[in-house]
Amino acid sequence: MDGRKGYPTGYRVLAGLLNNFSRLGLTTGMSRDVSGMQFVQEWRNRMRTLMPIPPILVNKGPVMENVMEGDQVDLFKFPAPRYHEQDGGRYIGTASVTITKDPDSDWVNLGTYRVMVHDKNTLGFYISPGKQGRIHREKYFAAGQPCPVAISFGQDPLLFLIAGLAMPAGVCEYDIAGGVKGEPFEVVRGEVTGLPLPAHAEIVIEGESLPAESLVEGPFGEFTGYYGSAERPEPIIKVKRVLYRNNPIITGCPPYRPPNDTDFFQDPCMSATIWENMEKAGIPDVRGVWMHKPAGCWAFVVVSIKQRYPGHARQAGLMASQVSGGAYMGRYVVVVDDDIDPSNIDDVLWAIGTRSDPERSVELLHRCWSGPLDAAIPRGQKGFNSRLIIDACKPYEWLAEFPREVGTSPELRERLFQRFGKETILGIP
Ligand SMILES: Cc1cc2nc3c(=O)[nH]c(=O)nc-3n(C[C@H](O)[C@H](O)[C@H](O)COP(=O)(O)O)c2cc1C
Repeated sequence: MDGRKGYPTGYRVLAGLLNNFSRLGLTTGMSRDVSGMQFVQEWRNRMRTLMPIPPILVNKGPVMENVMEGDQVDLFKFPAPRYHEQDGGRYIGTASVTITKDPDSDWVNLGTYRVMVHDKNTLGFYISPGKQGRIHREKYFAAGQPCPVAISFGQDPLLFLIAGLAMPAGVCEYDIAGGVKGEPFEVVRGEVTGLPLPAHAEIVIEGESLPAESLVEGPFGEFTGYYGSAERPEPIIKVKRVLYRNNPIITGCPPYRPPNDTDFFQDPCMSATIWENMEKAGIPDVRGVWMHKPAGCWAFVVVSIKQRYPGHARQAGLMASQVSGGAYMGRYVVVVDDDIDPSNIDDVLWAIGTRSDPERSVELLHRCWSGPLDAAIPRGQKGFNSRLIIDACKPYEWLAEFPREVGTSPELRERLFQRFGKETILGIP
């Protein structure tokens, strides 16, 4: 989007950076023809074998082309969009990267958390409970100190992709993004915060969040398709310095009713994270993991396994609902046998409808990790939610006797192809 009324030509907003597999392939250095489950497998391999590459500090970068400091700071200079009709403000940060440092160590964290413009030098930022940037902020606040914060509002899509994924505590997302890219990200040292700022970013702010100050944030159209968290007081950032390139581009990832821009990259990447973490937790023979976009990210996760022992399916379902990558704001986990493609909803529903029986196939977990955005939990009770594990595998104890499936054997299918041609018999199950 260019030439927004009242803004200089060249000040732009770019959304939809990662909303198909071709763009994901391009951003992550995979083939642009990569398909859904291939991406999940390849991403998982990458994450498992990745050698992190820390960023390198440089003295100058394009982000320093323009600088506003102190009284000069004016965030209204940038065309921050009001993405949805009923939003309570203009959101400059939706595909942004928030940088904080753990006060107790050298750990620098990058996370994507939405950012609203309150006034010319004040931003509001919403971070859900349990997220790493929030834990950093809470540590400063508990000590009665301001929390130094930097936010980049337009950057390499790879950095944004990694910032939006759950990484273990203590891991710096710059290092992971560098590892995926195969070379270090260049950073400049923030003069106000001392934080490492992406040297090639479009716009970066530096400032501090003060323990006792908050302003009403929201409502904002969220990734669930609702204004789930409505509006409430949230911490603010007093902006001290702004760095920006000539003709800066704000990157955007506006949520709306799913499937939305976030789902296109988060779901396959987080599916890979769940898969990897299940295996690390000792679950054998996981054959695939898939988050179904229309349910909204974490809400409907399907895991396929090759059943090896009694209780394997239940173990897999419980674990998928709680490992990092699947634990936050989940709702349903379905476990299917390895003949079911977890990314094919027709296959999955067939398995649920024909292999499970509610009396023996479901497990309900209480008081799990949710948060203010959960639309199905009433105000005043938000924070916890429940999980339903649906074991849609053939029961292990009668695997061998389970009714045979209706279908055509590969041999007969081939003979029919030979005799009548593929066109004539398409549709034979
Ligand atoms: C486009 C996008 C927007 C997001 N917005 C928020 C948000 O406003 N608040 C939040 O807590 N998490 C948000 N998330 C999720 C976090 O970025 C994600 O959970 C990430 O792992 C957080 O980083 P952390 O684990 O280092 O805290 C968003 C993710 C994406 C991809």
